[in-house]
Amino acid sequence: MESILKEGSDDGHGSSGLKRVLTVRDLTFFGIAAILGAGSFSSLGEACFKGGPGVVILFIICGIACAFTAFCYSEFASRIPVAGSAYTYAYASFGELFAWIIGWALIMEYSIGNIYVAFSWSDYFTSFLHKINVHIPDYLTCSYQEAKKAFLNYSSQTSAEQLEFVKNQANVELLNAWNNPPRLGSLRIIFDLPALIINFLITVLVYIGIKESKNFSNAMVMLKLAVVALVIIVGAYYIDPANWLPVNDTGSKGFMPNGFGGVMAAVSSVFFAYIGFDAVSVLAEESKNPQRDLPKGMTYSLVICTIIYILLALVLTGVVNYKQFENVGDPLAKIFEVKNVGWMQMLVSVCAVIAMTSVLLVFQMGQPRIWMSMSRDGLLPPVFQKIHKKYKTPSFATIITGMVVGIPILFTDKTFVLDFTSIATLFAFVLVCGGVLLIPQKEKVAGRFNMPYINGQFIFPILIVATLLILIKWVPGYFSDMFTYDFSRDESYIKGKASFMDLATPKLSQIIFWIACFIISIMAFMKKYSLIPLMGVVSCLYLLTGMTKSNWAWFLGWLLLGLIIYIFYGYKKSRLASAG
Ligand code: ALA
Repeated sequence: MESILKEGSDDGHGSSGLKRVLTVRDLTFFGIAAILGAGSFSSLGEACFKGGPGVVILFIICGIACAFTAFCYSEFASRIPVAGSAYTYAYASFGELFAWIIGWALIMEYSIGNIYVAFSWSDYFTSFLHKINVHIPDYLTCSYQEAKKAFLNYSSQTSAEQLEFVKNQANVELLNAWNNPPRLGSLRIIFDLPALIINFLITVLVYIGIKESKNFSNAMVMLKLAVVALVIIVGAYYIDPANWLPVNDTGSKGFMPNGFGGVMAAVSSVFFAYIGFDAVSVLAEESKNPQRDLPKGMTYSLVICTIIYILLALVLTGVVNYKQFENVGDPLAKIFEVKNVGWMQMLVSVCAVIAMTSVLLVFQMGQPRIWMSMSRDGLLPPVFQKIHKKYKTPSFATIITGMVVGIPILFTDKTFVLDFTSIATLFAFVLVCGGVLLIPQKEKVAGRFNMPYINGQFIFPILIVATLLILIKWVPGYFSDMFTYDFSRDESYIKGKASFMDLATPKLSQIIFWIACFIISIMAFMKKYSLIPLMGVVSCLYLLTGMTKSNWAWFLGWLLLGLIIYIFYGYKKSRLASAG
């Protein structure tokens, strides 16, 4: 830790090349800028559709998991206030290989996550243009993959289903994009032009520098907070409490119309909404007093956003029936469309564009700083540390980030990047919380963040056993289902919508989760681990049980690719390797 500190932040004084300009207020604003974006303005609709009003429970679970994790990030940030965030923390607690794996996973959180935000930005921007009667051709406003999927979906349907399909304007636009694009030989030219343009502009802004970006970002955050507050207040006026107990497809009424399974199916969308509080920690080398201010900035922004999400989810599912959110990419505007409040629709569209711009900005700033730290350790080529003489920003790494976000915009689609980002970020969070368990206790230092130590030796195993007993008593079939569930009778299996492995993955994940809880309980008992990071590990592991088979397949593939790169580059070139 000492040597990391010496090179990175010089223990809060001196200079590592980046300008120290950020205060608690700026850091909190950065947190909100990163958190409140595509998750609340876009993927919230999908989440409400899957989970119904009960999705609020998932927002609370994710908020709790993120709060435990924020404590762990804060503990690390107060000990190692340098720019690499979770990457640096893993380097200090687990060593080089794990650090590389985290750094590699964080590319998915920062860069791949930004692809989702850029796509959502483009959706709102285009719909705003529509409202003022400016029309961009459909083939320049969606991704190739989305258009192709819509076409394949449409072609496989019966004519009655097709009629239903084209009632949705978004589907009509996708089909239009697929059927009428310009062609290069047999290749259809379909790509999301606004997403590409915004990525380019953000890259330029980040390249130019932190101070300009800070002012820009603070103004945008104030505006989006005001609008979200307005959505909650005006929306509350239209709430019909009957919508909180809707009737599902099978005719039964309830807060969770699709059961708890339906709620958990929304985990990628809901968790994505929380990603961002951790981005505050990458600004360690640019904040005036990182040891005191980073933890505060992270906590304040997380608390504010959790309250906003719970209220937003209640308002959305209270104003209209949850089923109306099917395929809705602009849920906040949708409720006002249903209630015919024109001015709110317009306002929400404009502000969604602003909100998402600030998310893009923060993540685009975070990625180069993580790479900078990895390069210091010799895991990436030295050029990633290059600081621009005039602008004092990591210039080369910033340009590469722009490319890593920009190029896949041409080849991927929203659903894919959303899942990919959430699974990788949860994985990184598990390692950060686990890392805190491994670093030695420290003396309390006044004026710095000190994570309270609560001995988990007895409390943690008791909590796990109590949860087990509650589940056995109150959720009949919870455990027996894991082992004896008859997949061949599952409706989605019969209809061919899900394979055996698709259905088996959540059950298998739950079995692995409980085995992990058992092992962690024994370790907590033996080593008297601190309760807060233990809860962080377990809550993030629990959220991982909501991931699907294809999420795991892609994620493990990505990790494997990272390992191969590490073996051929980092393992030989790293500073640890050269130190012999
Ligand atoms: N939490 C961020 C968003 O919702 C990533 O856009």
